[in-house]
Amino acid sequence: MCGIVGYIGKNEASPILIKGLQKLEYRGYDSAGIAVYNNGINVVKTKGRLVDLDEKVKSLGGVSGTMGIGHTRWATHGAPSDINSHPHTSMSGKITVVHNGIIENYLQLKADLEKEGYKFVSETDTEVVAHLFDFYYDGDMVDTLIKVIDKIRGSYALAVMCTEKPDEIVAVRKDSPMLIGLGDGENYIASDIPAVLEYTKDYYLLNDNEIVVLKRDGVTVLDMDKNEIKKDIYNVTWDISSAEKGGYDYFMLKEIMEQPKAIKDTIHPRIADGEIKLDDVKYTDDDIKNIGRIHIIACGSAYHAGIVGKYVIEDLARIPVEVDLASEFRYRNPILNKNDVCLIISQSGETADTLAALREAKRQGVRILSIVNVVGSSIARESDDVLYTWAGPEIAVATTKGYSTQVALMYLIGLKFGQVRGFVSDEKAKAMVSELDKIPEYIEKLLTLDKEIEGMAKEHASSENVFIIGRGIDYAASLEGSLKIKEISYIHSEAYAAGELKHGTISLIEEGTLVIAVATQDNLYEKLVSNVKEVKARGAYVIAIAKEGNTEIGEVADKVIYIPNTDDKLTASLSAIPMQLFAYHVAVERGCDIDKPRNLAKSVTVE
Ligand code: G6P
Repeated sequence: MCGIVGYIGKNEASPILIKGLQKLEYRGYDSAGIAVYNNGINVVKTKGRLVDLDEKVKSLGGVSGTMGIGHTRWATHGAPSDINSHPHTSMSGKITVVHNGIIENYLQLKADLEKEGYKFVSETDTEVVAHLFDFYYDGDMVDTLIKVIDKIRGSYALAVMCTEKPDEIVAVRKDSPMLIGLGDGENYIASDIPAVLEYTKDYYLLNDNEIVVLKRDGVTVLDMDKNEIKKDIYNVTWDISSAEKGGYDYFMLKEIMEQPKAIKDTIHPRIADGEIKLDDVKYTDDDIKNIGRIHIIACGSAYHAGIVGKYVIEDLARIPVEVDLASEFRYRNPILNKNDVCLIISQSGETADTLAALREAKRQGVRILSIVNVVGSSIARESDDVLYTWAGPEIAVATTKGYSTQVALMYLIGLKFGQVRGFVSDEKAKAMVSELDKIPEYIEKLLTLDKEIEGMAKEHASSENVFIIGRGIDYAASLEGSLKIKEISYIHSEAYAAGELKHGTISLIEEGTLVIAVATQDNLYEKLVSNVKEVKARGAYVIAIAKEGNTEIGEVADKVIYIPNTDDKLTASLSAIPMQLFAYHVAVERGCDIDKPRNLAKSVTVE
């Protein structure tokens, strides 16, 4: 996730671009840059925050010109550095682009362009767009853009300038946000409204594959056949602070809603023709066959994603998996063998205990594979291999899309390793991949239950205790659901393996105690129904989470939230959603500081 802006008009572009980017810093902030036209295109870019870019521009005595594009980056391909920052320019210097998204087939395009003599200077996927545009450029920006779009695969919001076109910026979007701000003698491009809210309240909202030609005196929107599209003008009535959250009250809710896209961005580039390709890691089939044991190490929600991973990887790939809290692993004198793999999971890539555990494992000579969201973070840099979760920046302290994308990667690893080791047939893998592909769509459907879940949350917001029970993968999902509730609403909440209840915890169940029963596993369903009966008999109020079609539980539970019927192993991606929404609405009802819960921090860089 990155932020882009564009400006064409009568005023100096660079202050408008930099101010706009500052409003988009929530979309990424590891590097930034601008390109301004003035008898040629001047690019200024730097690693670091917008203040660093601003200083660099000032130290150059400003960058003059009335047309330009800008970018604030959240690194995906290539670590944050000056050279990997946007804008990117073609080898000839003619074309300059900014891009938000991921070009999934960039490696192939890069190889093709290198054969044509193009030299690449960055590690980014975006640079191919600059060279490709240059390759096809025929004097007409729109024709060229259409040829480029035809070649690239993935998600993009792109804005392009050319040294031969002093009065024109072209842009297009697909699966990444972009809007057009409409002014008087000046017009704007932005990833999000706050970037240009100071200058205009009138916008065009763009749909996928709509091409924009931005000139001083007007904006034309075209379809892929160059037919003009008549756009409605959208008038903004929000204030600036709510606009940064895209109209949501809190970043947490925004991030909950972003999960379909985050999962799509994480899995799509790794699925081609129904097959899983983990091209970003250097594991040969022999490496995978020879793995002795996997040690998953993480903290907080990432640890819970690891527990889902244990169930999934052991079942599909038949590799023994141990899951450790990083703070325990580093001091427990773990037994590691040379064929073992340490799988480190961390959204931030900077959690002190997780990093220390990684270093301990590395010291013992074990190969490190990490799952990280922040590109170029310490854990990513120190690992032998990294699988990035492409969730984009997560602002709310309580993770949602970070966790969901980690779980999605557990599925990809389990399936890939299982296939290579011969425990998952090609047929079964295809069927599971096809279901995995539908997870974003299933989550979209679950998100429509928001109002209903809000109603349940309001009813139970004054609870003093909540118990969440499940078996198998549902137990792993319960752990995360329980953490979400306690960390943001401050209600005491515990997750229990449902079969373990009778060994003590059931004595805590009283008249009206809230129990959330996660019952999505076909082979454990009847047992879970029995556990629900046990707590009901002691007065509990039960909200069950079950698969569509499994309606028997409705006869014993007080309420049931149905999730789409999918493969049993994949349900952890779905049951998480109602629990996140429930936790969120309970916390809102209790007046809690949702994005910054008391005593917590997003990235815990102390032991
Ligand atoms: C903090 C956050 C959690 C997160 C944990 C691990 O406690 O509040 O949401 O799961 O750290 O962070 P990491 O960045 O390593 O995933």
